[in-house]
Amino acid sequence: MSLLLEQLVLTQSQLFLKDVIEGLRLDQKELSSKYFYDAEGDLLFQQIMASEDYYLTRCEEDIFRNKTSELTLAITNRGTLFDLIELGAGDGSKTLFLLKELIDQGEDFDFFPIDISKNILEILGQNLQESLPELSFHLTEGDYFEALREIVTASHKRKVVLFLGSNIGNMSPGESLEFCRHLSDLLSPGDLVIMGFDLRKNPATILRAYSDREGITSKFNLNLLRRINRELGGDFNLSQFEHYQSYDPISGACKSYLVSLSDQKVTIGDQIILFKENEPIYMEVSQKFSPEEIDALAVNSGFSVIANWYDSKKWFVDAIWEVQ
Ligand SMILES: C[S@@+](CC[C@H](N)C(=O)[O-])C[C@H]1O[C@@H](n2cnc3c(N)ncnc32)[C@H](O)[C@@H]1O
Repeated sequence: MSLLLEQLVLTQSQLFLKDVIEGLRLDQKELSSKYFYDAEGDLLFQQIMASEDYYLTRCEEDIFRNKTSELTLAITNRGTLFDLIELGAGDGSKTLFLLKELIDQGEDFDFFPIDISKNILEILGQNLQESLPELSFHLTEGDYFEALREIVTASHKRKVVLFLGSNIGNMSPGESLEFCRHLSDLLSPGDLVIMGFDLRKNPATILRAYSDREGITSKFNLNLLRRINRELGGDFNLSQFEHYQSYDPISGACKSYLVSLSDQKVTIGDQIILFKENEPIYMEVSQKFSPEEIDALAVNSGFSVIANWYDSKKWFVDAIWEVQ
């Protein structure tokens, strides 16, 4: 391993440690959901996407499968060359429909999937090579904006940015506004963003998606404690924590927690964290949106709304926005 790479690896694991300790030292303990995705977390998330109760992926796939021509036209009708970038691409299963259509239409573009998980990028790379050998793609490991900044600086083609799977919902309303403002600042007027949003719907349907009957979401949350044990020298006893999910239909916030089942002491490296019985660790929000909230987010962050594509149940929307 080169010194530079070693320093980078050290820095990432030091950052992980810093975030974990800071989060667990707060009065209301929390962990950042961006650390869910190690190899086991990636696998569990793929199982969540395939599960009966997690409707989000099927809904967005419905849009990408059945509205492919509209999506493609909205991207290509400007007639100029473009780079296609995907933030938090994951396994790219829905994006494949769009990529295939763009290639079938003879479009000349490069694809830049960005993800914080090296493991899922490798899986995506293999899939792309096998199913779309003609595609020119550049796997980009890193945090959303760090990686996007590099790509934007390196090429002057217009940009089309995908942000699918309602990843935007993994932020509080204040954070998502800040995120979209940052995104429009980094891009140039005329650039496009296609963003997936999970819509408000029957609260029981939403709650079940994150509290699935197979218990995969519970394993997914607990896996972060396992990752802390393995990578940061922690000694979490996983059987002493339980997944709890809530959905508030007024605010649209669906939140996951891990609840301590006893008074206990956890050691992470040389740090000691105390938990009280029933004390929660806040793990992730999956915010649900109304169409009005989505339009307001666009307008308040420097975009204009070009179109909205809904799945057949109207449970999910992919919005296309243009930077002003
Ligand atoms: C909920 S999954 C969704 C994947 C994909 N967008 C989809 O719709 O299927 C979130 C993905 O975003 C990645 N991710 C989460 N936080 C990230 C960050 N801050 N920077 C880059 N990638 C991130 C994760 O590794 C994971 O692959």
